[in-house]
Amino acid sequence: MNQPHNFIDIHCHILPGLDDGPKTVEGSLAIARCYENLGIKKVIATPHFLPGTAWSPTREGVVESVQKLQKHLDKEGLRLKIEPGMEIAYHKKMAARIVAGCLLPLGRSDYYLIEPAFHGDQDGMLEDLASLLKSGVHIILAHPERIDQFQHKPDLLASLAKQGMLIQVNSGSMLGFFGRKSMETAAYLAKRGLLHIFASDAHNHDTRPPFTIEEWGTLVSSIGGKNLSSCMQLLDDLFTN
Ligand SMILES: [Fe+2]
Repeated sequence: MNQPHNFIDIHCHILPGLDDGPKTVEGSLAIARCYENLGIKKVIATPHFLPGTAWSPTREGVVESVQKLQKHLDKEGLRLKIEPGMEIAYHKKMAARIVAGCLLPLGRSDYYLIEPAFHGDQDGMLEDLASLLKSGVHIILAHPERIDQFQHKPDLLASLAKQGMLIQVNSGSMLGFFGRKSMETAAYLAKRGLLHIFASDAHNHDTRPPFTIEEWGTLVSSIGGKNLSSCMQLLDDLFTN
């Protein structure tokens, strides 16, 4: 069960030309080959949704891009299956957009991947997330270990987790690629049982690729056996159709 080939990567920027992921289909195929090497058969494509910028794809645009890329993968004989999703940057109208059905959840689940602002105070995000959770919206918070505010006060996440929010940590943080603070915060969250899911947040095949087979062992020891089992179970429960 706890092998990379059973892993589902729920956060990656594999679609071409939508954000700071690959610019071309060739770039997307290069990422897909990284997954092939790991034996990973399923990923959820999560282009950024950042309203007011060029990175604000529609639901339909993401779905269409996934379908087109899947055809290229199939033609290349790659086994990888892609499902649509979004990495939704926290913004004031986010809750209204989610409730109105304007934004995509992850794959066939009803979980939304929310990205906190990188710097400064989250300006109402914690309150907004709490009220979304209360209204029954399912949330996964993307890489809080990379965010200043949570590096200083990781326990801010505990009460939201108690209300059902899931926390996704980047594999790169666990491997030390985003600096000491991200790595230490990831380790702290793992120790506190607040690391529910890890994901690659891959953007390309070279500078921000999915993890390698050699790195899997390090990831397993960083997250701990018990956490890894519950992460794999969660991925299976939520994202296996
Ligand atoms: Fe991302």
